[in-house]
Parts: sequence; C-alpha cells; structure tokens
Amino acid sequence: MAETAIRGTFLDFVDDPWKHVGREDESVRFHSDGLLVIDDGTITDFGPYAEVAPRHPGVSVTEITDRIILPGFIDGHIHLPQTRVLGAYGEQLLPWLQKWVFPEEHKYADRAYAEEGTKHFFDNLLASGTTTAQTFTTGNLTCNEVFFEEAARRNMRMIGGLTGIDRHVPDYFANTPEQFYDDSKTLIEKHHGVGRSLYAITPRFGFGASNELLAACRRLKQEYPELWINTHISENPAEIHGVLALHDDCHDYLGVYEKYDLVGPKFTGGHGVWLSNDEFRRISESGAAVSFCPSSNLYLGSGLFRLGRATDPEHRVLLNFGTDMGGGNRFSLLNSLEDAYKVGMLNNTLLDGSVIPSEQDLAESERNKLSPFRAFYSLTKGAAESLYIDHLVGSFDIGKEADFVVLDWNAGPPATAWHQSMLHDGGELTLEAASDLLFGIMMVSDERAVDETWVMGERAYKKA
Ligand code: GUN
Ligand code: ZN
Repeated sequence: MAETAIRGTFLDFVDDPWKHVGREDESVRFHSDGLLVIDDGTITDFGPYAEVAPRHPGVSVTEITDRIILPGFIDGHIHLPQTRVLGAYGEQLLPWLQKWVFPEEHKYADRAYAEEGTKHFFDNLLASGTTTAQTFTTGNLTCNEVFFEEAARRNMRMIGGLTGIDRHVPDYFANTPEQFYDDSKTLIEKHHGVGRSLYAITPRFGFGASNELLAACRRLKQEYPELWINTHISENPAEIHGVLALHDDCHDYLGVYEKYDLVGPKFTGGHGVWLSNDEFRRISESGAAVSFCPSSNLYLGSGLFRLGRATDPEHRVLLNFGTDMGGGNRFSLLNSLEDAYKVGMLNNTLLDGSVIPSEQDLAESERNKLSPFRAFYSLTKGAAESLYIDHLVGSFDIGKEADFVVLDWNAGPPATAWHQSMLHDGGELTLEAASDLLFGIMMVSDERAVDETWVMGERAYKKA
C-alpha cells in the first residue's frame, strides 16, 4: 500500500502526567503543525511538518485544520449487550442487573438481535472517538461470535470474551462452569489474535461466580497465559457483602480473584470504588489494572472512586477509564472525564480537611484533580499501558497502529464556541491553549466534539 499522511495539530503523551506534578507539560508531545505518515495502517513517521515532510516527497497529504488530533480513545470497561438498556430508571447495581440487564442481554442469544445491537454498539464507539474497547458480552456463544465478527469487519483493536455467570442469576441466563470453559475455548481458538481481536477470560464478577467457574478461569489462563482477564471488583456495598458471604474463606474482594491466580498483568477489575488501601497495594504490586468508571459509579450510586489514592506513587495502580455503558449512561469517554473531574472535586471536600481536619491529605487531594493532561493520558497511553497493548496503540510512536480521533473544540451546545474563544481566539495553537481547549471539551462539550475517527489509517467516522 502507498504511504499517506495527515497534516494537523497533534497531541499525545510520552509519560504519565501524575509523575510530573507542577510540570505536566513534560509528559506531553505537541506539534501544532505536525505530519503523521501511515503505511498499511501503521505509523511510519511522525513529527513537525517541516522536518517530516521532506522525508516523504510526493506523499498524499490530508490536511485537517482547526482541530486537535489525539490517539483513539480506549474504553477499558464497557458492556456490548447493554446498548439498549442505557439510561434505565431507578435502581442500584444488584436490582438493576435483575430488572433490566439480564433480560436484555438474554436477547443476544438470537443472532439477528445480536447483530443489530452489535452494529449500534460499534457505531456509537466510533461516534465517541473510541477505537479500542475491552468489552463484556454475554455467556452465550452466538453473542460472542457476532461480536468478534463485527470487530473484524470494522478492523478495530478490541478485547472481549464470553462473560460467565453461574450464581445470583436467573436460570435462563446462567452458565455452567463446563459450558463456560468449553465455549470460551472454542472462541479463543477461533478469534484470539485473529485480525486485531484479543481475548479476555471474563468471569462477570465475584458475586456471580462459583468456585468452579473461577477454577475454569484459572485453567483457561494456565492454558493460554497470554490472554486478558476482565471482571468487576468492589463496585457496590451490597455486592461486596454478597461476595464475602459466597466466598467466606476470602477476607476481601480482591482475595477471591487472587485465590484463583487471576490477578496480575492483563487483569482488569472494573470500578474498584470500595477497594481498601491494602487491595490497592496488592493490585499495584501484581501489575494488574483497575478501570475507573465514574459515570456508572454516579449513575448507579455506587460511590466515589479514590483516584488520588490509586495514583499514589508509593503504590501506583495501572488505570484505564471505562464508560461501563449501560451502567454508565453515556457512550462517550468525554462524559466520563467530566464525571471523573467532579468525583475528584467531591473527594477533595473531605481531603482538604474542611469537614474533618484530621483527614486532611493534600498530596492525595492534588492527585484527585483531573487536569486535561491527566484526563486524556488516561484515555490513550495510560489506558494502553494498563491493558498491556501500548506496543500497539495509545500514541503516535512509529510502528503503532494509526487509530486517532479528530476533536473540534467548538462543537457542542450553542455556547461552546463562544466559551472556547475565550481560551483561544485564532492563530497557531500553543500547548497551553490546547490544554485549555481540551479541558473545555471534557467539561462543556460531549461526543459532538468528535469530528472524525480514524481506524488503521482509514476514516471510519465523520460527524454529519
Ligand atoms: N457487575 C456484574 N455485572 C455488571 C454489569 O453488567 N454492570 C456493572 N456496572 N456491574 C456489574
Ligand atoms: Zn461493568
């Protein structure tokens, strides 16, 4: 294939902004006039236009103006078969699952229904600038086949797998450990590593998993150590009590997964709202990740994730952000950033000592603040590192897959452009202005800011 190139304003990350308190711009790479050269879907050159262009005479260039181009967003935790129950009224986690989620997800055993829902799911990802997602499916083989087929058709870097549950679930929706093991194995053999698809062994959560189901997960991980493991952890107080009743030999939620040797690199626990300091420390030491799902944690009333604790340099936890759609009520990770910022501000009302002076922790409170660089790092390079796919996606490094999102800082509600013009009124964009505009995008816009989404060097979405 012939080389092509994109000329525009590019921003990505070379390091973790939480490591550069007060000098976060050291973690950023910014080219106000940059050139990204792509061959066969892979980045082959990148840098300032004036430096890179002479190395590629005759290359066909697409010019993108008045936009900020970022690596494609990575959603670390989302539920494909909840696309239609998004925005269901009135319940916290456990009754919400029973009332809304299991009946809806069950419909995905029907191929035609699954195909329609899956198409909506992928269309919404792309319209949100999300080019990679680690997704839950259902425990049904057809649903999973449809997911992997559609991911291949879209040529998207996706992680997912058969989502097993055999406790606290209606019979019509329950797996058996044997069927979970057999069907997972069928899917792994057929889809893992085929195209851009990656497989995650997926026990739904500790509250829904017998010892036998977790043992089946351990067996799969032993047979296929390169696979991902995706699950939920410590989301909701009622769930946590139930987990410790079901697994009464474990003294905390993480211990359930540790008992089956599941916790380590490529493991993601979604939510982690109520993780103890000791669980954060063990997760950090193991190389596992937590997915912060702020929109869902607010929507289902689960609680306030302690971002500043998870990013403590003494035991920094690998983090990605998840919409948790449909537990989260939006597909767009930009809305997750908005909610994450507010969660940090709320946590800081306690940490600044104004309520209980002895609980003041100004260092943790500083880490709770979701600056625009921390925010967009978490959707790109940080997420890729947490999922151990940073050699593939997450930045504009040469050799990576050319997935990116083109952001229009003037899009959104009618006053957005007027708001943003206060931060930047034309001319060449500086890093400082880009930072202000990105914060504006996450706080006063939404997926309307996503003008284009590109997958493997091809435009896969253009806003109407
Ligand atoms: N825990 C187990 N299943 C689910 C789910 O579908 N959504 C959320 N938010 N938590 C869960
Ligand atoms: Zn979830």
